[in-house]
Amino acid sequence: MFSYRHAFHAGNHADVLKHMTLVALLHYLGQKDTALTVVDTHAGAGVYRLDQDHARTSGESDDGIFRLQAAAAQAQSVGATPPDLVQAYLGQVAAFNPGLPWRTYPGSPWISQALLRPQDKLKLFEVHPTDTKVLEKQVAELGRGKQIEVLRRNGFEGLKALLPPPSRRGLVLIDPSYELKTDYQAVLDCLEDALKRFPTGTYAVWYPVIARPEAHALARKLKTLSQRHQRNWVQAELNVGLTPTEGTSTQVAQGRTATSMRASGMHIINPPFTLGAQLREALPWVTNALKASTGSGWTVEHGNA
Ligand SMILES: C[S@@+](CC[C@H](N)C(=O)[O-])C[C@H]1O[C@@H](n2cnc3c(N)ncnc32)[C@H](O)[C@@H]1O
Repeated sequence: MFSYRHAFHAGNHADVLKHMTLVALLHYLGQKDTALTVVDTHAGAGVYRLDQDHARTSGESDDGIFRLQAAAAQAQSVGATPPDLVQAYLGQVAAFNPGLPWRTYPGSPWISQALLRPQDKLKLFEVHPTDTKVLEKQVAELGRGKQIEVLRRNGFEGLKALLPPPSRRGLVLIDPSYELKTDYQAVLDCLEDALKRFPTGTYAVWYPVIARPEAHALARKLKTLSQRHQRNWVQAELNVGLTPTEGTSTQVAQGRTATSMRASGMHIINPPFTLGAQLREALPWVTNALKASTGSGWTVEHGNA
């Protein structure tokens, strides 16, 4: 039923935005001793090879994480320093790579597990049969017992039973492939329910910025939903622009799996008060590092309850 495999897209510009944000959230939430439950409703396979099969076929990481890494190395060679959040994210990826060139890219479950403290828990939902097997095997190899659990079921539905977490501290990452048109509404329904069960949780939603009415509407509806629930929110978008050979609206109208997706966003509900400033500092630098020839840009908006 599902054909989306994140291995083709690991380390692309959308992962850069999403995982940089995830690192910021986990660093902040890890400052308080009380246990944190992290839920990844759409986990993927966990960790990816950048030098093999899928990643090499698509080459998406070349225009994402590898460009960012090269820009940071270039800056450092002339005594400049990338923004703190960029350095923290690159440091997280570097931690999985003993040398250069980087061969491994940590997906969201891997970034989360690396930043868990002993008192924290990680719940990973995934439905793709192949990716679930890979994820289960890799999680088992970590040997962390009950701290990390892989759940073979629909994350939108499964989230309900986990909220509120016992310690009342939680981070939920919602990162669907939007392969199904129904995913756009499912994100909103899922958040509507989650905010009733656990209004003070931190929620981070990734969405594609593509020429599709549902995608435009989702970016807008996420703000409305946060406001209606009287929650603070931050919404950040990164657009890497078009290369000279791209640019027709039909090329970008096919959804997340189209290689021509050039922009995406993150909507964060109940963000740390530091997040907006961190993203405003990091995103101009990231945009400059990843931009193609025309039309690149970034935005960070916020709303207070
Ligand atoms: C974009 S990928 C996840 C990437 C991962 N969050 C990361 O950042 O490394 C989306 C994943 O969701 C899975 N998926 C699709 N529908 C799902 C559902 N309803 N519940 C759980 N997983 C789902 C897909 O098989 C795919 O592996």
